[in-house]
Order: sequence, then C-alpha cells, then structure tokens
Amino acid sequence: MKANASATGSPPLYSRTQDHAAPCFCFCCPLPPPKMTGLLFNLYIVTWDTWLTLLNLVTPRYKLGAVVREGKAGAGGEWPEFVAPKEGDSRCCCPALNAMANHGILPHDGRNISFEDMGDKIHAAFNFAPTFCRFVPQYAADMLKKDFHKDTLDLADLNLHNGIEHDASLTREDIKFDPHQDKPHLPFIDALLASATGTDSGGNKVLTMRDIQRFSAQRRTDARANNPDFSLAGIHKGFSSANSSTLLTIFGGRVDDLKAILREERIPYGWESRVRSRMGLTFLKFNLTVFKLERGTGTMEKMLAAAEQAETRDADGPQRVAEAESTQKTVA
Ligand code: HEM
Repeated sequence: MKANASATGSPPLYSRTQDHAAPCFCFCCPLPPPKMTGLLFNLYIVTWDTWLTLLNLVTPRYKLGAVVREGKAGAGGEWPEFVAPKEGDSRCCCPALNAMANHGILPHDGRNISFEDMGDKIHAAFNFAPTFCRFVPQYAADMLKKDFHKDTLDLADLNLHNGIEHDASLTREDIKFDPHQDKPHLPFIDALLASATGTDSGGNKVLTMRDIQRFSAQRRTDARANNPDFSLAGIHKGFSSANSSTLLTIFGGRVDDLKAILREERIPYGWESRVRSRMGLTFLKFNLTVFKLERGTGTMEKMLAAAEQAETRDADGPQRVAEAESTQKTVA
C-alpha cells in the first residue's frame, strides 16, 4: 500500500515507485522507509520481489490491450508521437530509454531526468515490476555517484564505459570504435534480426533464446579478437544477458517490433509489453531467463573458441609441412 501526497498537500511519505495517485489496497506497493542503502536495500528489494512474484501466481493477468493503464502514455497502444532526436539531445546506449525520450515519455532532450520518474515510467510503459524499476535506477544513481532522491541524469551519462555499458553489445559497436554509443549500429541489428529462426502462434518471425545466445557468443568472440581494449567482466556478462533478455520477455522476440525498437528506437503504434502479469516482470522471473541465456552464451563461446583453434591448427598444417620439407631439403 502506498502513502502519497495527501489532500492537505503534505509531501509523499516516501518515494513513489507505483503510479497510484492516492493510497490504495493493491498490495503491490511497497512500504519502504524514505532512504535505505546497501545490504538492507537489497534485502528489501528481494523480499518485495518475492512477494510480487507470489502475487503474480494468484492474480489475473492483464487482458490483451490493457497492459498500459488508462491515463498513461501508450494506453490502448496509443504511444505519444515519435520525434527523432535533434542535434544536442542527450541519448545513450539503451534503445528502450532512447525510445521513451523519442516519444516524449521521458523528456525529449534526454536531460534532467529524475531517477524516480524514470523508474515510474518504465513500469507504466513496459510492465517491469516496481522492484526492477526501483532497483535499476538506484544502481544507475550509485554508479554515477548521484543521489537517487535529489539528483537527475542526462541519458548520455549512462554511456559510462564498464558502468552498465560494456563491450560486445548487440546494438552498439564497442566504445573503442564508437565513443558516443548514442546511436544504434544497424549492421549488428540487421544481422541479429536476420538470424531469427522462430515463429510464434500468429506466424510472426521471432528471435529465440538460442538465436540470441549464438549471436551474442559470436559478438563476444569477434570483439575479443578485434578490439585491443576488449574487456567483459562477469558483471558485464550479466548486464549483457539481462539487456538481451528484455528482447525475449518484454518484446517477446517479435522481429517486426524489434526492427522499430532497435533500429529507429521507436515504439510501434499499437504495441504493448508481452508481459501481462499483474505485478509486472519481477527479478525472480526475469533472472530465470537471464541465467539461462548467459549459461548458453558461455557454452557457445567455448564451442566457437574450440572450433577456431581447430581451424587454425588445420590452416597451419600445410604450411608447417612445407616448412619441414624445405628444411629437410636444405639439410640434404
Ligand atoms: C533504468 C533503467 C535502465 C537503465 C539504467 C538501462 C541501461 C542500459 C545500458 C547502459 C545499456 C548499454 C549496455 C551495453 O553496453 O550493451 C542498455 C542496453 C539495453 N537495454 Fe537498457 N536500461 C534500462 C532499462 C531498460 C528497459 C526497461 C529495457 C527494455 C524494455 C532495456 C533494454 C535494453 C536493451 C535491449 C539494450 C541493448 C543491449 C545490447 O546492445 O546488447 N533497458 N541499457
């Protein structure tokens, strides 16, 4: 339950994470003290997330076409007008946040965004659970050494290398080759979407988990070989698979939708999140996809490395034979 600004105009008792205008009895709203940090905050998120996951098991899913609530941007599939970014607008390496700015759901110039507002709007637009929408902006605020409650960010702040942004992305060149990170790299996106092997019940082409694992493993292998500054720590592998998992969960792998989201950073008219759970996509549920995706990507990376080694051995073979023969002749 949530205590928000009262009729007397007193300020909210604590930070908004759900978008109800008044106290309600939905049981999905948190009861956080105003500020928490560190272990206590993580414990709070885990407990709340578990609760929401359980509630999702016993509450009816949103009906088709009703995921975005009345009065919110995108209700009934009617997204605010798309306006491509202008010179000077701030954009980042995240296609979803850029798309929100391109539609004016976040400020179109991508500047002075409150962390809290960003979380609220992600919840309303994509139906990520309030836990995700509270935790990830908090993580971003901490990463940028900003105060979640008081400070704001420009989207470009998120391009901080090896913060959340990392090498071997699916939609961006590595920072070594593209220091700005604010625009999609179309050849990667086209190759990713062209690799889709699935079809959904409506006959639409869809990316499967295996498609993404294969593509991501190849990106990591190529980046490792071609980028002298390449790095991808364990935590960044995790972010990589978390970001990629949104393609399967929130976007349902649908190639037509992903073409607009990833290439143009535009939300297609009529689109809604494929997650219809009443409490939204919780960490517990989401992480099942993330772990599976990461495990399979790691396995495929190893297979690619083994294949490459075998190829090098085979390719070197004739040359080594020729060298050995010429040495033998010289000695003779
Ligand atoms: C506060 C919330 C969010 C933050 C701080 C954030 C941050 C980021 C960052 C820094 C990247 C670049 C990672 C890289 O280098 O590849 C990224 C990529 C991405 N994000 Fe977000 N993001 C947020 C929310 C979302 C949401 C709600 C979605 C989906 C609905 C999403 C989907 C993606 C996708 C698909 C990528 C591209 C991954 C790639 O190119 O490999 N993000 N995000």
